[in-house]
Amino acid sequence: MNTGNEDAVICKEVFREFEDGTRVIKVLRGTDLTVKRGEFVAIVGASGSGKTTLLNLIGGLDRPTGGTILVDGIDITDLNDDKMSEMRRHKIGVLFQDQHLLPIFTAIENVQVPMLLDEVRADKRHEKSMALLASVGIDHRAHHMPHELSGGMRSRVALARALANDPIVLLCDEPTGDLDHKTGGEIIKLMRDLAKKENRAVITVTHDPETARMADRILLLRDGKLVSELIGEFFRASGVDVETRPVDDSSTG
Ligand SMILES: Nc1ncnc2c1ncn2[C@@H]1O[C@H](COP(=O)(O)OP(=O)(O)OP(=O)(O)O)[C@@H](O)[C@H]1O
Ligand SMILES: [Mg+2]
Repeated sequence: MNTGNEDAVICKEVFREFEDGTRVIKVLRGTDLTVKRGEFVAIVGASGSGKTTLLNLIGGLDRPTGGTILVDGIDITDLNDDKMSEMRRHKIGVLFQDQHLLPIFTAIENVQVPMLLDEVRADKRHEKSMALLASVGIDHRAHHMPHELSGGMRSRVALARALANDPIVLLCDEPTGDLDHKTGGEIIKLMRDLAKKENRAVITVTHDPETARMADRILLLRDGKLVSELIGEFFRASGVDVETRPVDDSSTG
């Protein structure tokens, strides 16, 4: 059970620039973001606007060129590499679209991978990974190889693996990009349930308005900052005319 800081993620005036030969690309330009435990936030934005860059910074996979990022109250911009890996192992879960399951391991073995570094006992590992697979509705396929599973099933296993270290923050980059609409919707519902029932902060990047609408808040990354206005305009510009106000369908499951 996660207890402690109510604000799971705080980004204050975050900058990230990349040097590209002779040019400097200013991607994040003073980005602010606060996400509480139990909150599910969707981030949208044009391709190249810096969405993955921002997730990488929050996930401790990259360092900002300016500003502060707190995860569970700890300033991760100050951590050395060892402390940062520890933070990643214990507080942060990631579900990225190109993060494939290891093909030579079964579903349950894939879920156990993050636990290996922490020397969790084999029986505990098994018990916990089975419970995680059950929580995402795929325990009946625990001993199947990834290639024997459908795309949606593999996503569920990857989600279980992202939760193996009981993260406070779950970061997802286009988690449903490869899935059909219905399957994608199921995964998003699962992610939202995880935020609510398990009091995690879930941040997902998406291009899909339907996915974004499932979130508590939708933010648009534009000109290096997160804004809550202009989201309807953003989706219309990508050819989608939808109501982008977040939906509350918790009553329907
Ligand atoms: N390691 C890097 N070195 C140089 N430039 C980078 C690096 N990582 C990202 N960039 C640049 O930063 C900008 C933002 O990239 P990012 O991947 O964050 O965009 P994105 O919003 O996730 O886009 P997409 O929706 O296409 O995934 C791009 O111009 C990209 O080329
Ligand atoms: Mg990206």
